[in-house]
Amino acid sequence: MDERKVAAFYDVVGNTYDQSLYFLACEAPYRSEIRRLSAGRRFRRLVDLGCGTGKQTVMLAPLADEVVAVDISPSSLQQAEARCAGANVRNVRFLHESIVALSLESGSVDGIFSYGDVISHVHDAYRQVFRESARVLRPGGFLACEVDGKWELDMLLHDPQERARARAARGVGHLRVWRDIPCKTFTDRELRGDLAAAGLRPVSMRGVNILHCLLPPSVLMGLPHSVGAGWRAISTALRGLDAVVARLPWFYRLASTRLVVAVRE
Ligand SMILES: C[S@@+](CC[C@H](N)C(=O)[O-])C[C@H]1O[C@@H](n2cnc3c(N)ncnc32)[C@H](O)[C@@H]1O
Repeated sequence: MDERKVAAFYDVVGNTYDQSLYFLACEAPYRSEIRRLSAGRRFRRLVDLGCGTGKQTVMLAPLADEVVAVDISPSSLQQAEARCAGANVRNVRFLHESIVALSLESGSVDGIFSYGDVISHVHDAYRQVFRESARVLRPGGFLACEVDGKWELDMLLHDPQERARARAARGVGHLRVWRDIPCKTFTDRELRGDLAAAGLRPVSMRGVNILHCLLPPSVLMGLPHSVGAGWRAISTALRGLDAVVARLPWFYRLASTRLVVAVRE
């Protein structure tokens, strides 16, 4: 497994990698999914799987008696702790461990959030992550996660080499390499099958970064203040369009990543 490589990567870039327009486009969908799933509910225990620097941890804390924030990168965990302390959040327990083998009790969790490339990073043991998630969830509990989609629109239009690798992986996702780290992509059928095999019933999917990914790479991965007002406006417009098409039955499959909710049977 690449766990050590991934941990070392996030130890170095943990608090800087997600400032670009690409990652900023994820924030509104994350907030809207968290709002939708928590509407009118109070949870006993939520888990932030691959919490990174704790961006979602602080959003989840007010919704539950306890949030357990898990990550393999010590430096990211320290930053998550500092972020929670700065926000006066006191109900978070931090676990430095791999999401492949959680130390949480079976059936002890109401909901799991895992946003950003977390499960896709575990490209050789993601099924085990789905099984571990199902094990720790109580029946009726949910896994809300983000994974890489195979047939990303940007790749289809602009990246013949990756497109060839994707075609070669017949019926399943290929590995998409992001900054030297391989990420598992999924076809729709494969993802639904893997979740079902773990005892998780998919109930919703939406795409993130569909049309927004068509920005030139230097703009997409650029910082908002450095790309100029024109590109910022185009980015806003494309994000607005993405919000509309993200839930269309078929269109979300062209997204760079998809937000999935699956319920423990
Ligand atoms: C893209 S970041 C996402 C962080 C956070 N959820 C966010 O959206 O800001 C991915 C995180 O997953 C963590 N991660 C990757 N593989 C892991 C594993 N096997 N066990 C625990 N954490 C892992 C990394 O250390 C990193 O902090």
